Amino acid sequence: MGSFIFIAHDGTLRSLEVPAGTSAMQAAVANGITGIVAECGGSQMCATCHVYVDAAWLPKLAPMQAPEDAMLDSAASERKANSRLSCQILMSAELDGLVVHLPERQV
Ligand code: FES
Repeated sequence: MGSFIFIAHDGTLRSLEVPAGTSAMQAAVANGITGIVAECGGSQMCATCHVYVDAAWLPKLAPMQAPEDAMLDSAASERKANSRLSCQILMSAELDGLVVHLPERQV
């Protein structure tokens, strides 16, 4: 188990405890986090699960692969250096407490 912490665009914070292997996208959708749309269900085909990863956590993430990199270019909100697709962030002991910020919009 581990926790993802979501900070909405308006500053609202929610912490969700999930089993290892659960993606941040899956955690958000299952718990009604409205800032994540996830139209494609996690197959890196939509960019509506875009998040900004808190800078302190970036070094702990698995490196971005080419499909994620390409899809982030079509995100509805500005792509930044800490942009990632939340469907590609899987809970692990290392990521317990990971903080992500939700963009202003996903579509
Ligand atoms: S859910 Fe579609 S790219 Fe992540």
